[in-house]
Amino acid sequence: MRDPTGRFPVQFLIFLLSQKPADAAFGVRANPFPLGVPMSDQLQLPQKSCALRVVPQPSDANVHGDVFGGWIMAQVDIAGSIPASRRANGRVATVAVNSFVFKQPVFVGDLLSFYADIVKTGNTSVTIEVTVYAQRMSLAEEVVKVTEATLTYVATDSDRRPRALPALD
Ligand SMILES: CC(C)(COP(=O)(O)OP(=O)(O)OC[C@H]1O[C@@H](n2cnc3c(N)ncnc32)[C@H](O)[C@@H]1OP(=O)(O)O)[C@@H](O)C(=O)NCCC(=O)NCCS
Repeated sequence: MRDPTGRFPVQFLIFLLSQKPADAAFGVRANPFPLGVPMSDQLQLPQKSCALRVVPQPSDANVHGDVFGGWIMAQVDIAGSIPASRRANGRVATVAVNSFVFKQPVFVGDLLSFYADIVKTGNTSVTIEVTVYAQRMSLAEEVVKVTEATLTYVATDSDRRPRALPALD
């Protein structure tokens, strides 16, 4: 590869420089799975604002580091109550957990993002779909959908009785 003077030819140096990943040159994160799943096929977080973000701590998990389902349910209830109380313009109470699926385990240190959307409203009730994604604590930014749930909240008055949802303009 070296020329008769012992130096590398210019063409070889240009070839080496051209091997630098384009992403790195522009400060974009390189694909951490170059031989695995292409980046375009990896799960991404939804392109919308999430209701809640939280990192489970050791006290939220069993001795193996698996986060308690009950802790996740509590966070889902909090996340769902945010759009529900906004729609109710005030206090709400959880009347039902209609469905709840733990699709993948959650570990201490995961960054959890809770997305909460209104899927139905009635006279006094608001039904919310909550989807939870985990970003695993590792260099490879793996995103996993861990939980899907649907909950119904009821707008309540100061006596904790159901009250009608305010009309939308
Ligand atoms: C929530 C609560 C005030 C509702 O009072 P209620 O007298 O049972 O109310 P109603 O029967 O009039 O139902 C109110 C609404 O809830 C809905 N609802 C009642 N039970 C439901 C169920 N199992 N699943 C889905 N929706 C339900 C009704 O369809 C109704 O909706 P709509 O007005 O939009 O049609 C009362 O049940 C309560 O205080 N529950 C305890 C709440 C609580 O402590 N939650 C846990 C901590 S937040």
